[in-house]
Amino acid sequence: MVADNLSLASIADNLSTRFIGQRVIYYPRLASTMDVARREAQQGAAEGTVIIAGEQTEGRGRVKRTWLSPEGNIALSIILYPDVSYLPYLVMLASLAVVHSVEAVTGLKPQVKWPNDILISGKKVCGILTESEVKGNRVDYAIIGIGINISLRAADFAEIFTMATSLNEESGRKVSRVDVVRHLLVEIERLYLTLPDGESIYEAWRDRLVTLGKRIYVESGSNVIEGMAESVDRSGALMLRRVDGSSTRIVAGDVTLRDK
Ligand code: BTN
Repeated sequence: MVADNLSLASIADNLSTRFIGQRVIYYPRLASTMDVARREAQQGAAEGTVIIAGEQTEGRGRVKRTWLSPEGNIALSIILYPDVSYLPYLVMLASLAVVHSVEAVTGLKPQVKWPNDILISGKKVCGILTESEVKGNRVDYAIIGIGINISLRAADFAEIFTMATSLNEESGRKVSRVDVVRHLLVEIERLYLTLPDGESIYEAWRDRLVTLGKRIYVESGSNVIEGMAESVDRSGALMLRRVDGSSTRIVAGDVTLRDK
């Protein structure tokens, strides 16, 4: 039997971090951890404060999409106060931390699809959302939101059933949410502390991208652009070589791999 009682004590007790997860606010049920994290950050919550929900009723994803997080999955947000120069690396470090933690707990081999979807067997198992408030050259706060499908059965949800998967489904066993969360918090802190060497985070993220060297479609706003994903730069933008030979730099979008 896998211990899976997501609770304050189970997450925070003897957690080997200096600050990430040293304050955890746990809600059995919540609209979105992002909203609570924003309020907490505006009131000056300690860096590393984690908001975690057993279940979210209004989870949100990138580009105003809905994020499904019924009970039994992971939905958390982490409050940070990084230097403005570190902002582009937050998404990269969050992706890497998820990949490393999922590998450590399950032995599965997740991949990163640009910019920050975590895939297993070509299907999405985790989404990452970062939000920040920046004034001039100063970051008021940054929030990393992470949703990981642990027990979600994609077949139960028409809107995601061909595109999503979960750790239970992929591993064929019951994965412990608490184990994944604790690994994740330790790993996020470890990588966060290496941010002064942002280069190594960028390189490790780039090397994990399943997107590079592939023919892809990118939906960016109302545009769909097709081409070869050539490279990513240090800010996280994707360089796409179009069929006519021209090159386009894409800062945000949704990628579909043409040849899986
Ligand atoms: C995406 O892939 O579009 C990003 C999904 C991010 C979901 C997480 S779950 C925890 C946090 N709270 C939210 O409402 N969203 C993020």
